[in-house]
Parts: sequence; structure tokens; C-alpha cells
Amino acid sequence: MANFATFCFLCVSLSMSYYLHAMAHEWPAGGSTRFYDFKVQTLRVTKLCNTKEIVTINKKFPGPVVYAQEDDRIIVKVTNETPYNATIHWHGVRQKLSCWFDGPSYITQCPIQAGQTFTYEFTLVKQKGTFFWHAHVSWLRATVYGAIVVYPKTGVPYPFKHPYEEHIVILGEYWLKDVVQLEQQVLASGGAAPPADAFTINSHPGPNYNCSRNDVYKIDVVPGKTYMLRLINAALNMENFFAIAYHKLTVVEADAEYTKSFTTDRVMLGPGQTMNVLVTADQPIGKYSMAMGPYMSAKNVSFQNISAVAYFQYVGAAPNSLSLPANLPSFNDNLAVKTVMDGLRSLNPVDVPEEIDASLFVTVGLNVNKCRSKTPQKNCQGTNNGTFAASMNNITFMKPTISILEAYYKKIDGQFTEDFPGAPLKFYDFVNGAPNNAPNNTQARNGTRTKVLEFGSRVQIIFQDTGTVTTENHPIHLHGYSFYVIGYGTGNFNPQTANFNLIDPPYMNTIGVPVGGWAVIRFVADNPGVWFMHCHLDIHQSWGLGAVLIVENGKGPLETLPHPPADLPRC
Ligand code: C2O
Repeated sequence: MANFATFCFLCVSLSMSYYLHAMAHEWPAGGSTRFYDFKVQTLRVTKLCNTKEIVTINKKFPGPVVYAQEDDRIIVKVTNETPYNATIHWHGVRQKLSCWFDGPSYITQCPIQAGQTFTYEFTLVKQKGTFFWHAHVSWLRATVYGAIVVYPKTGVPYPFKHPYEEHIVILGEYWLKDVVQLEQQVLASGGAAPPADAFTINSHPGPNYNCSRNDVYKIDVVPGKTYMLRLINAALNMENFFAIAYHKLTVVEADAEYTKSFTTDRVMLGPGQTMNVLVTADQPIGKYSMAMGPYMSAKNVSFQNISAVAYFQYVGAAPNSLSLPANLPSFNDNLAVKTVMDGLRSLNPVDVPEEIDASLFVTVGLNVNKCRSKTPQKNCQGTNNGTFAASMNNITFMKPTISILEAYYKKIDGQFTEDFPGAPLKFYDFVNGAPNNAPNNTQARNGTRTKVLEFGSRVQIIFQDTGTVTTENHPIHLHGYSFYVIGYGTGNFNPQTANFNLIDPPYMNTIGVPVGGWAVIRFVADNPGVWFMHCHLDIHQSWGLGAVLIVENGKGPLETLPHPPADLPRC
């Protein structure tokens, strides 16, 4: 098996490098270059009758939109004018040969410290659609986020009727506390994260919340016209349903890749997911709610249950009329989530790797560690007086002290190891085999472990949710790649019964692994660098639900990661 895989890897890599050599001077030619100036700045805002300082880009909340066209080059100078550490990640941008500019702190760069500057430069190679950027350090992402809208090349139409208008709709979560301190407090407590104080749509909580009757986002619509909403879930610790009262949503794009159009009453987005939906104003003139509510699949977790509401308001509707309520699924409606997933199909037949060179089986879930504190009341508020953690294959990811990419590139020892296991230590009934009540030591081990992949290898990853503490839908995000989601289901993954779609699976960058279930992804590891793979619920990431894939250089010039930029921040 191993020999066969190696042999085949060689033939693939040879033919691929030949192909890329032949292309060398045609790519990346790119389109135009777009420059942006991002100043990390604090802003005083009043929400929910409370005034506080939040961290923003250019004092905008949500932050500025990055507009571009497919194949454009993007240059963003980021200057940190706050006392907090900052980085920006360009979520969903595949960063072809530009891993240095990916943004996750301690993975590809040290944070940009107070007063410092770092310029991100990358090309949107063969990418278009709705993406977003966000801070990738501590929980700063709670307020440091904005949309990236990449149009097709000039003259290339959408594969659907051009909408009358487009609107960006960013789902978020808002805290009254300082989120950087909040993360530290939660980690020090050993317990769960408190719910957000509000859900927000384009940073507005809407009329269901205290003092927010006028803090509402609104789209004015002309009867009969079709609108495209670019939905982005930038929430920190929640997955969310979204629906518009009495209106159908037609999904045409997910994670910045076109899908077959699929009409539904509501969608679910995990944090990190984006979706373009068409909505036709085909109802009687009125004021309709666009609502964002919780999807919580874990047990015994407290969460915000008040939905954020925005208005989809027809021109001619009485401004003070009551808005018609949207029909959101109940918070634990797993079937509604499955229905959305079932609807996501790539628009055209796709090229899914059929042979696999590297196959990983990765469990994802929470853990409880034994209390090590002398003040357990204060520090061990997890199940059975333990402390909460999370892991992949029972390895809790610990951040190194400089970036893994820098350590790897400069061959600096002691920052990480290359022994992330390709499978869990033991196989058992991951979903139901856990005791009803987690013991206070689930044996997770700490480590900064990476998995090294040869350039060009065809990779399959089976993600398996565990019930060690509670089963839960985990939005797993992979940096540097999109991947085909070829299968998913509930229970334990079983190769005998698993059904794979190798014809038109969606091509995504974040996959919600079903609660108590599994998902299988495939991609070709043709982008060298150090790529973070983690749960996009920040509390899980803080607890260590992540691992790192290192993709080696290939042989040709377009298969080799360039040198680091001169202004790469130091730790
Ligand atoms: Cu959008 Cu590593 O994240």
C-alpha cells in the first residue's frame, strides 16, 4: 500500500510539474492590483445601552469591503494603532504560493504588535465570489471582520440571471465585555464560554434586543426585483440559521464556489462559511424580517436565544408598520441543517481525486482535563470539576512561541513536531461509546504537532465527531485550500456503508461536521506552506481544536514557497 502510494505520487508530481513548467510565463499574470490601507483602530460604540471601545479596521464596523475581480492582486497595508496584537486572515483565499500572508497568528506569522505595520500581498488565483477577512488572534475576530467581494472577470456573467442589486449580510456576535480579556477569563475558569450579549446582522442587533429598536439593518426592495445577498457568518462561537419571512432563498454559491441553484426556506451557516442567495421581492408590499438565530447541537450549553432581525422592506411599505416575523427552525433542528447540506452541489461536474496518496482519520471533539489548580472553584469549572479542552485525534493543539511557518522555513528547532497521528490511537464507538458523564480526565495530550504532506499528494480526510463530552456540529476550516465534501452522515464513519459523491460535491473551505457524525473531504496538496486546520468556533480553537498540515515544496519554481517578506512581524 505504502509503496503503491509513493510510486503513484511520483508519477503525479512529475506530470504536474511538467505541466506547471509549461505554464510558467502565463501565470500568475493577474488582472489589476488593488491597494487597501487598513488601520487597526479602536472605536467607541454604543449598543444595547452600553458604550465601550471595540477594535475595528478604519473605525468601521463591519470593516471596509475589499472589492476585486478574479485573478487580481491584493495589497493591504495593515498598521496596528491599538495596544492589542493583531493579524488579518483572508478567509477562503487559497493563498497560492503566498502562505506568508495567510494571517493566522503563530501559524504563518507573529502578530502585528502595537505600532507595527505589515503589508499583505496575494493574488486571487482563479477565485471569485464572497469571502471575508477577519482578525486571527485571540477573540478579536468578534469585531474585526469585513467582506471580500470578488467579481468574475470583465465580460464574464454570473451563471444565473443578474440580480437587480447585491447586498452584503454579515452575521456576527457582540459582547459587552472586552473580548480579549473574555477569552483569558474563560480559559482561566476552565469552564464554558458565556453566550454573546447579542447576535448582529451587519453589526446591528435589531428590535428584539434592549435599546435596539433603531439599531437595525435594512434593505429597501423594489417589488418584483431579485436581490442577491452575500451571506457571511462571522460569529465567534455560534452556528446560525438565517431566514426571511415569507420569502424563499435560492442558494447559488457556497464558500465562494458556484452551486447548482437550490431553493429553500432557510439556510444554516457555521462561522467561516459564506453563501450567496437570491431573493425575489414577490410578496405583498410590506416589511419582512430577515432573521438570524442559533443552531446549537451540543448538550448543556447556554447560548443566546434571541434572534437578530433586519428588515427586507418593500418600497411603499409604511415605515412604522410591524415587521412580519421570519420562521427560523428551532435551535436543535439537525434535519434542517442536513437539508441545506444535501442541497449543496457544485454547479458543474468536478475533478475529484479518485486515488488517494494520504488518508487521514481525524476525530474532533471536546475533552476534560484533570484539575491542576489549587483553587478549583476558580479554575476548574468544567464537567466534574475538570477543565475543558478540545482536540483532534486527542491531541490538544498548543500555539508555539514563533510562527510554525517561520520555524519550518528557517529550520528552527523546538517549536513543533511532525508526528500528528494520521488516525486516533484507538478506534471505538466514538459517538455513543462515551460515558453519559465525561470522566474528569479524557486523556488528551498537549502538542504542537503537524502532518507533513508531499507536494501534489491527493489527500482524503475523514472527520469524525466524538461524544467524549458532548456531540456537536463542528465547522472545520482548512487554510490554503478548498476541498470537495464527498460525503457525510451521522454515527460512526463506516467505509462499507458510506456513500460518496464524486460527481458534483461542493468545493468548500469550511465543513460543518454533523453532530455525532462524520464528513469526508478530498483535495490535492498542491500549495506549499503551513496550513492551519481548525474548528471555526473560537472557543474550541482556544481549547486546542486544531492541527497543522505542512505541504512540502514541489520541484518547479511555481511549486516552491518564496522567501518571507522583509516586514514579516517578529514575536
Ligand atoms: Cu476564518 Cu483560521 O480562519
